[in-house]
Amino acid sequence: MNAEAEATVVGDVAAARDPYAAAERGAASAAEPLLELRTVESGYHRQLRVLKGVSLNVYPGQCVAVLGSNGAGKSTMLKTIMGLIDDEPRKGSVRLAGKELTRAPTEAISKAGIAYVVEDRGMFPDLTVAESLRLGAYHRRDKSEVQADLERVYQTFPRLAERQRQASGTLSGGEQQMLAISRALMSRPKVLMLDEPSLGLAPLLVEEIFAVIRDINKGGMGILLVEQNANQALAIADYGCVLEGGRFVLEGDAAALRENENVKEFYLGVSTAASGEQRLHVRRRRRRWN
Ligand SMILES: Nc1ncnc2c1ncn2[C@@H]1O[C@H](COP(=O)(O)OP(=O)(O)OP(=O)(O)O)[C@@H](O)[C@H]1O
Ligand SMILES: [Mg+2]
Repeated sequence: MNAEAEATVVGDVAAARDPYAAAERGAASAAEPLLELRTVESGYHRQLRVLKGVSLNVYPGQCVAVLGSNGAGKSTMLKTIMGLIDDEPRKGSVRLAGKELTRAPTEAISKAGIAYVVEDRGMFPDLTVAESLRLGAYHRRDKSEVQADLERVYQTFPRLAERQRQASGTLSGGEQQMLAISRALMSRPKVLMLDEPSLGLAPLLVEEIFAVIRDINKGGMGILLVEQNANQALAIADYGCVLEGGRFVLEGDAAALRENENVKEFYLGVSTAASGEQRLHVRRRRRRWN
């Protein structure tokens, strides 16, 4: 079977015909989606529109990767889901396990079960590793389970165990990323959202962290992974979507996306666009996506 045929170009025409079609194609199983975005429009200062109608499903145990170049709107999408932009989304809806979360306060979204690892890792530099991890579990009442989760984190990342009493601001970049992910896990989320977890990390460490993400995912948690590192993201994801200019221009099974010529060229570094002529070719092909 031609894997490329599995990936779907989501054009304006298709979206206009059926705005829910893109999200339905994300169906991994007959199960209800955990996270559901429906034609979400959002941006900044009520004027700037960054997301122009984004629909997406994340099912239990599914890892969905969102790829896209700088400024495509990836972080805006995660901030919108998390209720971090006032009065956004201006259109569309966000639900978790059927519960309406559109424009809910961030605290309520967090309690409902969405955890967010921000792009710069969001450290509280003066808190120790142990304090930061406990902060992740602050709204949980099951103290003995929190302790068990803490021990699990230390087993998963022995480096964090060794540095329990160290201020998190003094950790290395990789250790901070481990802490950021672990802190998010301490809230026992239904869906974990990660914004470019591989940024600035050595390849081996990226592999280690992605292997952990995959393990968590197998346990049933939904993962929404935003990445520029398309190779690694598509290697662990089940489903992938390409965001350009605030719209999904391509989506499909991760394996199919890896074989897609556009994805290879723009995100997997397969292209050798050295000459002006080739660059022109790239631009023309780029237009055909939209
Ligand atoms: N706080 C803000 N106020 C106004 N505009 C913003 C704000 N944050 C982001 N933008 C704009 O929204 C657009 C999308 O930005 P966003 O950060 O979502 O992109 P991204 O896909 O995450 O990019 P990157 O890969 O560089 O992280 C950009 O044009 C950006 O300038
Ligand atoms: Mg970003």
